[in-house]
Amino acid sequence: MAESIIYTAGATRETIYQELLPQIKAVMTPELDLMANLANVTAILKEAFGFLWIGFYRRMDDELVLGPFQGPLACTRIRLDQGVCGAAATQQRSILVPDVSQFPGHIACSSDSRSEIVVPLVSLGRSELVLDIDSDQVDDFSAIDQQYLEAIMTMIADHHYRLP
Ligand code: SME
Repeated sequence: MAESIIYTAGATRETIYQELLPQIKAVMTPELDLMANLANVTAILKEAFGFLWIGFYRRMDDELVLGPFQGPLACTRIRLDQGVCGAAATQQRSILVPDVSQFPGHIACSSDSRSEIVVPLVSLGRSELVLDIDSDQVDDFSAIDQQYLEAIMTMIADHHYRLP
């Protein structure tokens, strides 16, 4: 495994994603434990981008349960009919929220959160995980984030959810 993750500090977010993706793949490939890999994905993205909060929720029955994350204390359980996370899991699509105060039902785990992106991992027709990222800046996420975060979720799906 690489001893450290290398990226160009100060480069555009897209350039940094392009630098990180192959390194994330290299870190995950030899490890078969899902939680270990999710933990490293949160650490790599938090270090590179300094997001307020980044973490995974795992689907367990009709709830999303907190998994590996970086950042302040977070709510541990989110019902599928609640919040941005529940909406992304249920609708099986990424949701960008430019201003969390405008999203009906948004769950404010941190009062500093201003914008948010949630990307689900869908396997066999069911959302199994969501990646949730909060920013303390309004309108901090774009189609670039969505594109690369979806690519990371596809890597996780290919490695941990697809049968050989
Ligand atoms: N804001 C999320 C809840 C999770 S926290 O942001 C960590 C939501 O509305 O689903």
